[in-house]
Amino acid sequence: MADGPRSATARAHSNIAFVKYWGNRDHRLRLPANSSISMNLADLHTTTTVAWERSLRLDTLRINGALAADSALERVRNHLDMLRARFKTRRYARVCSMNNFPMGTGIASSASAFAALTMAAGTALGLNLSERELSILARMGSGSAARSIPSGYVEWHAGHSHETSFAETFASSDHWKLIDVIAIVSRAHKRTGSSAGHETAGSSVLQPARIGSAADRMGAVKSAIMRRDFEQFASVVEEDSNLMHAVMMTSDPPLLYWAPLSFAIMKEVRHWRTVEHLQVCFTLDAGPNVHCICASTDADAVVARLQALSSELEILRSTVGCGAYILKP
Ligand code: DP6
Repeated sequence: MADGPRSATARAHSNIAFVKYWGNRDHRLRLPANSSISMNLADLHTTTTVAWERSLRLDTLRINGALAADSALERVRNHLDMLRARFKTRRYARVCSMNNFPMGTGIASSASAFAALTMAAGTALGLNLSERELSILARMGSGSAARSIPSGYVEWHAGHSHETSFAETFASSDHWKLIDVIAIVSRAHKRTGSSAGHETAGSSVLQPARIGSAADRMGAVKSAIMRRDFEQFASVVEEDSNLMHAVMMTSDPPLLYWAPLSFAIMKEVRHWRTVEHLQVCFTLDAGPNVHCICASTDADAVVARLQALSSELEILRSTVGCGAYILKP
């Protein structure tokens, strides 16, 4: 390897899951308890430059311009340790990461972050990794990052081993132009993150029922997306989100992510769909923010109704996104 820094810049999009990942069969390998489905979010992304430098004695990390420390740095260093072993390099890395959306709000910044980091790190070393391998490696940093590598509508196969747990596209981003209208109910940093939550999922008596029925919901959501059947899509997506939150609420310790406004929006969304016939449904990750998934024709109406509910509500909006890609090789 030449002496100069080896660097590359990659961009990856956040994703929103329709059948959720919650709980691991193997925490170290991040082998999930169930397969999951998501769509990438075109307008929410992380752009990461990795420079492997011979002169560095430690990995450094900047997020949105500021030097990161503590848990964020430790998590990235652990991921880089894994990549160093896999890529057979002894160099340390200078990592600069920029998010174009707020972090720690229940919008999956770890998904886009570890997908972009993994792709930039491999490309910087001149490695030509397959999409499947990138998805497998990104999964080790954050489970949902496996789904931010492929494009459009994505299925993450739970698998039964490190090599068989990866995500792939099952429908392209232009197959169905759904919009995610995200109501930012709170920007506050969540107290219990997903990683800690995955570890306690098994303490809920409801988790076996959620896992046991996940394959049925996978089939139903996939077929609804393939047929662009919003009614079927909406009922299963809401059921799956509610099931995950039922597990969270009944875990030890209980995880209560919904805020009063989250609950009010969920009820309104159901009203807008069942009474006003808008094509919209809700799903919530490990936070209070409500993702209102809607047909592109109804997105403006959904935004207007959310603003009428609470004038202070911050609203983000995204179309379906492509997979991770290299900006500067
Ligand atoms: C609720 O991928 O954030 O968003 O692997 O510990 O980084 P780690 O967890 P993460 O978990 C995502 C949980 C979720 C549901 C989902 O995106 O499927």
